Amino acid sequence: KKTLKDMDFKGKKVLVRVDFNVPLKDREVTDTTRIEAALPTIEYLIKEGAKLLLISHLGRPGGEAKDELRMDPVAKKLANLLNKEVKKVDDCIGEDVEKAVADLKDGDVLVLENSRFYPGEKKNDPEFAKQLASLADIYVNDAFGAAHRAHATTVGVTEYLPSAAGFLMQRELNALGEVMENPASPFVAIMGGAKVSDKIDVIKNLITKVDSLIVGGGIANTFLLAKGYELGDSLVEADKVDLAKELMAEAEAKGVKIVLPIDVVIADDFSNEANTKVVQADQVPAGWQILDCGGPESLEQYKAIIKDAKTVIWNGPLGVFEMEKFAHGTIELAKALAESDAHSVIGGGDSAAAINKAGVADQMSHISTGGGASLMFFEGKELPGVAALDDVE
Ligand code: 3PG
Repeated sequence: KKTLKDMDFKGKKVLVRVDFNVPLKDREVTDTTRIEAALPTIEYLIKEGAKLLLISHLGRPGGEAKDELRMDPVAKKLANLLNKEVKKVDDCIGEDVEKAVADLKDGDVLVLENSRFYPGEKKNDPEFAKQLASLADIYVNDAFGAAHRAHATTVGVTEYLPSAAGFLMQRELNALGEVMENPASPFVAIMGGAKVSDKIDVIKNLITKVDSLIVGGGIANTFLLAKGYELGDSLVEADKVDLAKELMAEAEAKGVKIVLPIDVVIADDFSNEANTKVVQADQVPAGWQILDCGGPESLEQYKAIIKDAKTVIWNGPLGVFEMEKFAHGTIELAKALAESDAHSVIGGGDSAAAINKAGVADQMSHISTGGGASLMFFEGKELPGVAALDDVE
């Protein structure tokens, strides 16, 4: 793919797709990780004398303008981080935007409105894409976190503008590509999260690559059920039990170890106020449910595997870690990763949040800014937002 170094930006209007889909509270940005991750591209384009038009989605406004999802707090944060004026317009296309663009000087930065205020964004409507593209001379995609979406700002606009991958996009693709193509073994994958259905394709692909697959979170329940365990009131996907059996058989045939929890933290209610205890994974009484796969014996098992690993990838928490009582397993896993010498690549979203909560972000080799995007990458599929970018001639 073409990169920033392959292009000349002096005096050019550059439409930059960033993933500024950041958490907000009371219209303030509460986590700037994704904004900071895009700074190398933004600063480079400023230095090269481009006129920057930044565009992102924010939340899921459903194709209409919602005041609480305007980009203003994001533009304000960006201005702080750049220590430079950042302009903002309240639309993505149209006359006001055209005027603001015409006023830009080389090195100026303009933040456009939330792209998902337009239904044409998610529908990848060519008309919306064309209007956006008409504002600029070049398109740069630095939104790795949104590259799994085939939307107007990630795919559609590439039909009308020369395009290139930004530095963050490049860094993500290199880091994730390296571990999927050339992992040092033992290669261990840790898959957690709530639903098996979200993880089928990734598990299928990982079974062809890893030495061990640690399965935790809600998805472990369905695997435990497939082994015939009593799981009390635990959340299971009964219609995925056969699939879990197939995946286990497939793994066994390939010599891949599927590692399930030995003991688990159970609760008598899905709440942080519930009574809890630790039991063996096959002895969950009626009226109780598994909410954390990190019992002490399970954790010992995971730690031993991670200690010997040379490469580890992790996507999805081991339990309901947003509730303090069920965060233990996930936090201990993050710490175990920090202590190991393995090359560690963390899928974004909840796992990245857990790494931050454990205070060990500095000790990971790579923490992706993309949740769904890194998952799609681990599925071995090409991301539409990447596929659409120009290749080097
Ligand atoms: C993310 O946060 O994973 C990306 O920004 C994509 O957001 P979406 O799931 O709303 O498309």
